[in-house]
Amino acid sequence: MKIFIDTAEVGEIREASAMGMVDGVTTNPSLIAKTGRPFREVIAEIVSIVDGPISAEVISLEAEGMKKEARILHQIHRNIVCKIPMTIEGMKAVKTLEQEGIRCNVTLAFSALQGLLAAKAGASFVSPFVGRLDDIGHRGMELAEQLVTIYENYDFRTEIIVASIRHPLHVLESALIGAHIATIPFKVIKQMSQHPLTDKGIQAFLDDWKKAGGSLT
Ligand code: E4P
Repeated sequence: MKIFIDTAEVGEIREASAMGMVDGVTTNPSLIAKTGRPFREVIAEIVSIVDGPISAEVISLEAEGMKKEARILHQIHRNIVCKIPMTIEGMKAVKTLEQEGIRCNVTLAFSALQGLLAAKAGASFVSPFVGRLDDIGHRGMELAEQLVTIYENYDFRTEIIVASIRHPLHVLESALIGAHIATIPFKVIKQMSQHPLTDKGIQAFLDDWKKAGGSLT
């Protein structure tokens, strides 16, 4: 499973990259706003750090406006993937943009049928938002699992990015169902690396080494 980082904070992207954890990046207007920096400046810095798909979202609601914005985004760097909302206008934009060679990530997908439409429109990626479904009492991971089944049934090339991940269990379940990608907040990547027995084990080894007066040289 590929790991994308779900953030626009370049410090987090640099640190996760140093760990070898970043196959790509997903941003959205809220994440960009949180940085307090201009959009283009942030995106230009991200593409200089990560050589993989970098999702940046369009703002228009009509297909024509989306296409115009997506072409501008694509001109910034060939790795930029245009995030297009799951609407009828969005699907019209996806169809044209993908034909032009501009990759699209259909975002805000909350049902398997929406995911089916995204794949039929030719999207390179689809983002089911599992955490936001959990928030309203649905089982978000069921949506991701249904998409894996549907895409396998019909050999769709669209890659599933499990999004709106809230905790390590979402990542574990994404890997178990065979999702292509999980886009993970940096906080959750750090949580995944931790285990109390690892900390306890390190401490015990250090204590024993000290007691024995060990030296590496
Ligand atoms: C993904 O592409 C989105 O940016 C993100 O996962 C949304 O997550 P949230 O529900 O925590 O805002």
